[in-house]
Amino acid sequence: MTDFKQRVFSGVQPSGNLTLGNYLGAIKNWVGLQDSHETIFCVVDLHAITVWQDPEVLRNATREVAAGMIASGVDPKKSIIFNQSQVPAHAELAWIFNCVARMGWLNRMTQFKEKAGKHKERASVGLYVYPDLMAADILAYKATHVPVGADQKQHLELTRDIAQKFNNDYGVEFFPEVEPLIFGEATRVMSLRDGSSKMSKSDPSENSRINLTDDRDLIAKKIRKARTDSEPLPASMDDLDDRPEAKNLINIFAALSNRKASDICAEYEGQGFADFKRDLADLSVETLGPITEEMARLMDEKTYLDGILREGAENADKIAKPILTDVQDIVGFLRP
Ligand code: TRP
Repeated sequence: MTDFKQRVFSGVQPSGNLTLGNYLGAIKNWVGLQDSHETIFCVVDLHAITVWQDPEVLRNATREVAAGMIASGVDPKKSIIFNQSQVPAHAELAWIFNCVARMGWLNRMTQFKEKAGKHKERASVGLYVYPDLMAADILAYKATHVPVGADQKQHLELTRDIAQKFNNDYGVEFFPEVEPLIFGEATRVMSLRDGSSKMSKSDPSENSRINLTDDRDLIAKKIRKARTDSEPLPASMDDLDDRPEAKNLINIFAALSNRKASDICAEYEGQGFADFKRDLADLSVETLGPITEEMARLMDEKTYLDGILREGAENADKIAKPILTDVQDIVGFLRP
């Protein structure tokens, strides 16, 4: 399948605050793809409502994610930026994929099990078919490359299975094979209070995460307060498997400075965490400060932001609509 263009698609949910995890794990890695690929970045509001969202909060969070992308270097002149609900092809293709995917496939999805918790029967049906919608996001554009965190790998495998079953069932070579672009374990940012759980916008502890709405002082304070242990920094990352908080901070340092975690270890080997944390606080303020400030500025420019999203949705629709029409023909929907 060489006739497919290299087209990148990725998405971030507008649920709660954007965190350092969203930045290092996703958005930062998108910036460099803009010159080599056609890039489409989506604020996935349809996904967000798989769990309850207050409408006003959702609207604000949607603008905030768009502002966060732009402040981080996603350029609306190079990339399509839009919110999912404004391009009907996502929901329409997701329905068709609900009829392609098998119950057994979705039953294996670990993220559903985690998010639904003990009360599966009380989870929304949308949460269950979340991966079908994600497949629709990607395949509505015939995207070939999808940058995601390691936790989304299973969903991308499902996307490939759906594409393949669709192609087989209808005897076509229509959807491309999707390649994940995983940017390494170092970009999986963990909680600053508990190195074994992911940094999350839903964690009740504010000190567990850095929000892209935090100002410089707050960022520095949260780094200084981050949990560590009393051992000095080791010579190698291999010695950190049972020290998740230390490992997380070193990974954050490496990701923010675009260096290897092993080099950071070598530099601080044998020292306590005091100097390291002071340097990490400085580095965080230096790299994130300009982004959070630009984001705050953009949040005051609602007309500008909404214009970007509107134009993005129009451009996204121009790509997705004809693909959806082809799908309708393949499936046998009469277009009278
Ligand atoms: N499920 C992804 C996450 O939580 C977000 C997402 C939705 C996405 N649709 C996508 C990512 C399509 C990549 C491609 O991180």
